[in-house]
Amino acid sequence: QSEKPISNRPFPYKIIAHRGASLYAPEHTSAAIEKAIKMNADYVEVDVQLSKDGHPVLFHDLMLDRTTNGTGPIYKQTLNELKKLDAGNWFHPSFYGQKILTLSEALERYQSQIRFLIEIKNPEMYPSIEKQLAKTLTKAVPKSNLNDIIIQSFDLDTVKRLSKMIPQLQTGLICNIHSEISQQEILKWAKHFDYVNPYFLTVNERLVNVLQQTGIKTFPWVIYHPETALKMFSYGVDGIITNDPLLKYTLPTNI
Ligand code: G3P
Ligand code: CA
Repeated sequence: QSEKPISNRPFPYKIIAHRGASLYAPEHTSAAIEKAIKMNADYVEVDVQLSKDGHPVLFHDLMLDRTTNGTGPIYKQTLNELKKLDAGNWFHPSFYGQKILTLSEALERYQSQIRFLIEIKNPEMYPSIEKQLAKTLTKAVPKSNLNDIIIQSFDLDTVKRLSKMIPQLQTGLICNIHSEISQQEILKWAKHFDYVNPYFLTVNERLVNVLQQTGIKTFPWVIYHPETALKMFSYGVDGIITNDPLLKYTLPTNI
């Protein structure tokens, strides 16, 4: 399905490929990002952690076991060691040989083809992660393109620290907020963030309205079904984070 050319018809909402097109290829690998690009996603969402020697790498779990042939915590292995692991076979043997990517590699290879939504994962484990990210971003991304990048985290302070180092970056707070959260509370966040990205089950029309009135954009996560996507769009979200960038092709064209 993904090998066929896909028409890039105009679509009013952003499609964010969660860990790449992770329904079709092993999350966070080149294969997953390349599929997201082929499927015309607007952004790729990636999780970033640090190797033992401080390199930002794309990886979701704290442990290597689920998505590689390694074991134990990712931060206990150097980049050299991580690069020896296979990150594709767990998903399907046809992906054997896919590697853990560094953030630099991903940006250098793909930033001209897709935008990046970068999640700072487990910042409490990595005291220097903002400094390392600032170094990587400054080196890999042309200055005039830094404002295409959104950095986000569940941790408000890590986003604030990195944003202070590179003010051009767009910022997002990921949350599991309760839908009855007060307008006042949301307004408090507005000072710090361009995006508030909540778990989709906590999103309702009132919340999206308050965010919009406050000038904050919103990408709920993770959307699997066309009906859920349509519900989110009817609330007025700006886009959806999904493992399946082809979801939009199953929706009517007149939404
Ligand atoms: O973009 C938000 C979403 O990715 C947060 O959940 O666990 O998939 O990183 P997780
Ligand atoms: Ca994530």
